[in-house]
Amino acid sequence: MTVTTSPTSRAAQILSRPTVINGLTVPNRIAMAPMTRMFSPGGIPGEDVVSYYSRRAAAGVGLIVTEGTYVGHDSAGESDRVPRFHGEEQLAGWAKVAEAVHAGGGTIVPQLWHIGMVRQPGKPPYAEAPAVGPSGLRIGAEEATGKAMNQSDLDDVIDAFAQAAADAERIGFDGVEIHGAHGYLVDQFLWAGTNRRTDAYGGDPVARTKFAAEIVAAVREKVSASFPVIFRYSQWKQDAYDARLAETPEELEAILTPLAAAGVDAFHASTRRYWIPEFDGSDLNLAGWTKKLTGKSVITVGSVGLNGDFIKALAGEGSEVKGIDDLLDRLERDEFDMVAVGRALLQDPEWAAKVLADRLDELKPYDAAALKSLS
Ligand SMILES: Cc1cc2nc3c(=O)[nH]c(=O)nc-3n(C[C@H](O)[C@H](O)[C@H](O)COP(=O)(O)O)c2cc1C
Repeated sequence: MTVTTSPTSRAAQILSRPTVINGLTVPNRIAMAPMTRMFSPGGIPGEDVVSYYSRRAAAGVGLIVTEGTYVGHDSAGESDRVPRFHGEEQLAGWAKVAEAVHAGGGTIVPQLWHIGMVRQPGKPPYAEAPAVGPSGLRIGAEEATGKAMNQSDLDDVIDAFAQAAADAERIGFDGVEIHGAHGYLVDQFLWAGTNRRTDAYGGDPVARTKFAAEIVAAVREKVSASFPVIFRYSQWKQDAYDARLAETPEELEAILTPLAAAGVDAFHASTRRYWIPEFDGSDLNLAGWTKKLTGKSVITVGSVGLNGDFIKALAGEGSEVKGIDDLLDRLERDEFDMVAVGRALLQDPEWAAKVLADRLDELKPYDAAALKSLS
């Protein structure tokens, strides 16, 4: 499908500009946010997954970040329906996804994922594997219930991320995104609540960033210099929405600087509502601060395109709801470079095409029932 843009639309003018992440030209500013769908039995993305992603690329999404996909480590995940990014059949399935997205005119990166202490042992695909993390602590727990990773565990996981990135490049993806957000393994190291280590991987924010930076450096070493490496991070965690990695811009800078130095080309700053200022005294959101502090390309995300009623139901009556104009203002000021859209795009595969053509009245409102099928 050819996506028509409306020359009169401000959204089209601002969102349809290409942008460059390292060696990759992304045709416009709209990204699909990574969303776990669990429609890949045996960890293999099938034809339905191919059409799910390619349909959105053909309808104008410039960059698809796939759902989280497990790296090749026995403790990486806990569902046999989440796609894996290792194994011959799994990678063959992914290669078809990448090819179809390219045929639709889009670009695509896999989101590489290790869930760490979120894992409930006993679940497939590797039922015997323990839950592992920096200190064996689940979010909110004070007693360890999992394995505190030793050096050989750390090395294995770093290698697994690097191998997945090398495979991504080999099978035709345009880059990779490392999942460092939402309380999963990499974030468990970044956050003091789950990282109580007293070795080089724990302590101050820079030490807590060491594991993530080593993953980035190992990935960087295994892929071409021009292959984009994106790092997703968040303040909030699953089960701890108020958690924070950084209370001040200075603390945030301490975390982001080593990641940028290790080779991150773009950051994906995950927030639940993009218009919320991150720190007192400035309107900048987390993505805006990330760009200001690192100078790297940055993707913002959080309730873009969801209708006001839905956000109010989540955030409480009286919450301020910002429409797309505020987002466009921020993009126009280069507060960040791209915008990722999650639920609105899950609901409406044509979301990008409609927004780019100023057909906003045709957008389908989000309904959680959309989670039940892959269309
Ligand atoms: C069903 C669902 C699955 C998700 N899975 C992931 C995931 O695998 N990786 C990730 O980083 N974020 C995941 N997220 C978070 C989204 O990427 C996004 O940040 C969040 O939905 C906010 O964007 P939205 O308001 O546009 O939906 C998921 C969200 C949803 C709704």
